[in-house]
Amino acid sequence: MKKINLKLKNNPYPIIIESNLKDNLLTHIKKAKLGNLGFVITSPKVYQFYQKTIKKNFPSKNFKIIITADGEKAKSKSWLFKIIKTILKFDKTNKKPFIVCLGGGTIGDLGGFIASIYKRGIPYVQIPTTLIGQIDSSIGGKTAIDLPEAKNIVGSFYQPKVVLIDPNFLKTLTKKDFKEGLAEAIKYGLIKDQDLFYLIKNNTKKIMALDPALINKIIYKSAKIKAKIVEEDEKEKKGIRTILNFGHTFAHGLEAASRYKKISHGRAVAIGMLYAAYLSKQLGKCSEKEIEEIKTILELYNLPTKIQFGPKEVLRSISYDKKFTAGKIRMVLIRKIAKVEVSDKVTVQNLKKSFKKIK
Ligand SMILES: NC(=O)c1ccc[n+]([C@@H]2O[C@H](COP(=O)([O-])OP(=O)(O)OC[C@H]3O[C@@H](n4cnc5c(N)ncnc54)[C@H](O)[C@@H]3O)[C@@H](O)[C@H]2O)c1
Ligand SMILES: [Zn+2]
Repeated sequence: MKKINLKLKNNPYPIIIESNLKDNLLTHIKKAKLGNLGFVITSPKVYQFYQKTIKKNFPSKNFKIIITADGEKAKSKSWLFKIIKTILKFDKTNKKPFIVCLGGGTIGDLGGFIASIYKRGIPYVQIPTTLIGQIDSSIGGKTAIDLPEAKNIVGSFYQPKVVLIDPNFLKTLTKKDFKEGLAEAIKYGLIKDQDLFYLIKNNTKKIMALDPALINKIIYKSAKIKAKIVEEDEKEKKGIRTILNFGHTFAHGLEAASRYKKISHGRAVAIGMLYAAYLSKQLGKCSEKEIEEIKTILELYNLPTKIQFGPKEVLRSISYDKKFTAGKIRMVLIRKIAKVEVSDKVTVQNLKKSFKKIK
């Protein structure tokens, strides 16, 4: 078992990483003393794969199971109110309700947001079942739902009481969904941890075969980086949490340009990191070596290194998304593997020039 204590002044909590933790979820939840009526929010796929685990860990006397729509559709106004109404139906005077988010990032974002607003806040626990969930979304307390107009536009900062991570959940994940998370793990390597970067680069086969020791290490190292950054800048006020956006300015532009359909987030982040490296070289921050390292790791995992979109659509989306102050935009640039910096000096001209490299 590995434990990371996320040390926040008002809401400290443990992140527990353990193989087969899923057989002991109830023990950990009881230990956290969250309440006497748990609402387990989960997705259809997770329910289908883990019905036995769910029934065993969450007896009907004290838990209600709520199955949402799959994927991003769950992060909607309609699911938000549907679930709140269900909670309300069972929440009698002698009950102390809490929420259990069992699923990917979408379930964690939705469940965490409900926990933050129902009766002005009830406790919740994160049990992430995707790699994105385990290394990123379950840690740090960012919760949200989407509106048709914009993603994550209604949300809150609200920390869970405990995060329970069982790497064995990843065994049923599709290779595609697994790689979505791997792109983010590569990002952690690139911003903070050289060992992590080369661990992922040098062990393709074993990682894709979910070698337990390697997967545990990737989760632990990534979660630790995320936790540390959240500790230093919980509400993204000091510019420290900004480096987590490495590759993301471009990725968000690309996702918006593709109307969130043609390219997934993880793939967009992959190419976004390569793009940021080209930009960094153009601005004299890194050398060809860094570009080659990034390109190679992406190719090893079949993540994209070229895109079909023209610069117009993507740059337009970036400029909608981010403020250009005096014609300049804020970007995270790379100097070396595991060394990045935030620059406020990137111009549209710079953006256009580097775009040619990935077209
Ligand atoms: N809050 C944050 O800090 C933060 C950070 C990153 C991403 N996010 C959010 O997370 C979401 C993406 O998360 P995601 O990639 O986990 O997507 P997801 O929740 O849609 O899960 C991906 C797919 O995998 C399925 N699935 C989940 N666990 C499974 C398992 N163990 N076996 C088989 N299938 C399983 C899901 O049902 C879904 O179909 C986005 O909405 C994004 O905005 C939030
Ligand atoms: Zn991301």
